[in-house]
Amino acid sequence: MSKIVIAGGSGFLGEALSRYFSAKDIPVVILTRKPGNSSSLVKEVYWDGKTTGNWVNELEGAEALINLSGKSVNCRYTQQNRKKIYRSRLDSTYILGEAIRQCHTPPRVWLNSSSATIYRESYTSYRGEYTGEVGNNFSEDVCKQWESIFRDAITPRTRKVILRTAIVLSPRGGAMVPLLRLARTGLGGHQGSGQQFVSWIHIHDFCRAIEWLIQNPERGIYNVCSPHPLRNNVFMKTLREALKIPAGLPLPVPMLALGARLIGTETELLLKSRKVYPQRLLDKEFVFEFPDLKAALEDLCQVEAKRS
Ligand SMILES: NC(=O)c1ccc[n+]([C@@H]2O[C@H](COP(=O)([O-])OP(=O)(O)OC[C@H]3O[C@@H](n4cnc5c(N)ncnc54)[C@H](OP(=O)(O)O)[C@@H]3O)[C@@H](O)[C@H]2O)c1
Repeated sequence: MSKIVIAGGSGFLGEALSRYFSAKDIPVVILTRKPGNSSSLVKEVYWDGKTTGNWVNELEGAEALINLSGKSVNCRYTQQNRKKIYRSRLDSTYILGEAIRQCHTPPRVWLNSSSATIYRESYTSYRGEYTGEVGNNFSEDVCKQWESIFRDAITPRTRKVILRTAIVLSPRGGAMVPLLRLARTGLGGHQGSGQQFVSWIHIHDFCRAIEWLIQNPERGIYNVCSPHPLRNNVFMKTLREALKIPAGLPLPVPMLALGARLIGTETELLLKSRKVYPQRLLDKEFVFEFPDLKAALEDLCQVEAKRS
């Protein structure tokens, strides 16, 4: 593979992908608003996420462009934050489409982030790519508009893939970090009713799925998640077992609401029932290394223990 360009690659998923590809000697270019040090294989390049500039040259001849840009949704959904959540995703996606159109040799494939949260909440049926019903609340609408801007970009020489990614599990960042903290402070019981489904994917399978989508002639929507979502109470029990913590206090909705307000986030991230299914990856015989949560969490807890 020639180089991979990752817009918004300085964050949690971008860093994981940079490590994954550079470990295979594949050069990575990160488009960031705050470039820092570059290494022999990972180069950080300035962009502002909304206008074209010198960074467009980095796209020439790239194997893949992956867009992960967006203000974190781990915040209070104030009017101002909602606007930033929309604009950071829509503007970056739009300008990448324009940049591709300026290239002599555009990237072969453009993978644009969306989220598995686009689907309407479900406690029963699976939300697959073909049958999954898309919802209308704030976070679902963000994803719909994000995907719409991406679909509207006309890039005849660049294949396009939408990543409807579920919660990515890694001790290095994302949702797993606060869950580990809760479990270790004795608050690792279920959240809310505990009946809501959690859709998740091990960070290694996330990176492998991205590589697979680059290497295969796929296009359109892909659910990037393990085939085994499970209920929050089972998820938290499995996490406690992986950490060898025998018990954990549950967190009822009012306490979660108070906690979320205090730490400046929203309860939706924990309480929405997401039962998402990676139909297309399975149809194409993508093999998950960690399809089951028990093995995934045991592996991730070992990774964390080795790092500390
Ligand atoms: N983590 C998950 O489990 C998960 C699951 C589903 C979907 N996603 C989606 O996947 C994407 C990447 O997730 P992540 O966890 O890696 O997020 P992250 O750690 O917050 O990284 C996102 C990156 O976006 C860039 N960014 C932030 N605000 C921006 C703005 N206003 N304009 C342009 N760029 C901006 C930042 O780069 P600079 O500050 O360096 O410019 C940041 O490093 C996000 O869009 C997220 O919604 C994540």
